[in-house]
Amino acid sequence: MTKLHNLIVLIFITALSAVAQSKKAVVYSEKYRPQFHFSPKAHWMNDPNGMVYVNGTYHLYFQYNPTANVPGNIHWGHATSKDLFHWKEKPIALYPDSLGLVFSGSAVLDKHNTSGLGTLVHPPMVALYASHSVSKEKMGKTDVETQSLAYSNDAGLTWKKYKGNPVIKNMGDRDFRDPKVIWYEPQKKWVMVLAAHDHIDFFASKNLITWIKESDFGREAGDHAGVWECPDLFELQNGNKKQWVLIVNMNPGGPNGGSATQYFVGGFDGQKFTTYDKETKWLNYGPDNYAGVTWSNTGSRKIFLGWMSNWLYGDKVPTSPWRGAMTTSVNLALKEVNQKTYLVSEPVKELQAITSIPKFLNNISFEHTYNIQSKLPSFGNKFIFKLKDVSVADFSIVLFNKNSEQLKIGYDKAKNIYYINRDHAGITAFQKDFIKLSTAPRLSASPKINLTLIVDETSAELFADDGLTNMTGIFFSTSPMTGLNMYTPGKLNIGSLSYAKIGSVWGK
Ligand code: FRU
Repeated sequence: MTKLHNLIVLIFITALSAVAQSKKAVVYSEKYRPQFHFSPKAHWMNDPNGMVYVNGTYHLYFQYNPTANVPGNIHWGHATSKDLFHWKEKPIALYPDSLGLVFSGSAVLDKHNTSGLGTLVHPPMVALYASHSVSKEKMGKTDVETQSLAYSNDAGLTWKKYKGNPVIKNMGDRDFRDPKVIWYEPQKKWVMVLAAHDHIDFFASKNLITWIKESDFGREAGDHAGVWECPDLFELQNGNKKQWVLIVNMNPGGPNGGSATQYFVGGFDGQKFTTYDKETKWLNYGPDNYAGVTWSNTGSRKIFLGWMSNWLYGDKVPTSPWRGAMTTSVNLALKEVNQKTYLVSEPVKELQAITSIPKFLNNISFEHTYNIQSKLPSFGNKFIFKLKDVSVADFSIVLFNKNSEQLKIGYDKAKNIYYINRDHAGITAFQKDFIKLSTAPRLSASPKINLTLIVDETSAELFADDGLTNMTGIFFSTSPMTGLNMYTPGKLNIGSLSYAKIGSVWGK
């Protein structure tokens, strides 16, 4: 009897784990599923929110519709990671309430318990986000958006809404959202940057609850082709000085159409941000890197991540049952080029842990076509590809498949631009505004080009000139891109080339 009972239990457990295994395998193996970028198991996702690093864990909250794979009904989804690549999706963190949907915002670890919402021994995590009232929106009112607070006493897993919400009432701007909060050590206070249609409002607080407006910035600065959204403010070392960076996302009107991220370099005295920048600077020129901001509480390291899509067509991309993915996390730094200060971004070092040992090829010189694949022991369509010391001449890196689809990423010397051309890289007809060709100026004056390309199932991220000109683009090829070539109309010299496969983070 006991033996039979044990056998039945064993069969039952084996069957259950087989079902669990196959479910796991199916969920992250669908057509077009990114293999090392975060995407939710199912449904709609846009902006990253509440990014904060606490006790060795990166928390990524995100704009999430748990009932459909189109925008609307927005909650905060949640995922955690120890290494910025392996993510575990957690239960929904924030639900809509009488004040509205839970729009974008940020989270901090309130180490000194300034809010009194935890204790010094168990400091609370505090989130500030925009409440967006759909009913007021429908009535055509202006005070649609207000700022609310939620806090967590269990390391970010569950959240309680503050009883006195909203903590900031609407101040007359219909667009009034996406609070990003930082700690300003010299004055021992919290500073919030908030997007208000065509400018950024600066607020300060001693306790994260009572906020006072101190200044605003931007009506006369930067690009204003669209609405300003999702700002961020942080300080970075630049040689022997420190400078402040203000990130401002904008939609539409990006350099290649639709959504894009501009930034300003300048000074911040605790109240007011100032900049010398006259020209608009874009953090990423590609069509698919939006609403990005940085992780809080990462010390001097500044790690940035964006939504890998564009409001022009994000709700039409042919993926199911999910829609939306995040970019690769990048490290931000400042760099002087021709007396101007730029942000440079490059993939975080954690990427190496999911990357195979690179294959190096040195001193390459070719005319017309170079078949990279034939030089590699084996090729996979998810990889990191690096070129060092390439002569400044026309060239393209071409990903292709058995259906003759091609994704072209390259440099045009006469125009001095980098480009991503996805016109023939697969399905494009799902939305007429799917941007086919995007370009970016080469800002570097270096006599040689260095370039890194990271390719996943449906995305290519280009970091040119050591992260000075960057472009992110998604594509939907009808079969995997199993080929890799380089072309040049004349002759091209490459100092060194390296290729390494990137593995799946979804446990296959
Ligand atoms: C940016 C944005 C934010 C807003 C959120 C709504 O993509 O429009 O301004 O808070 O998305 O989901």
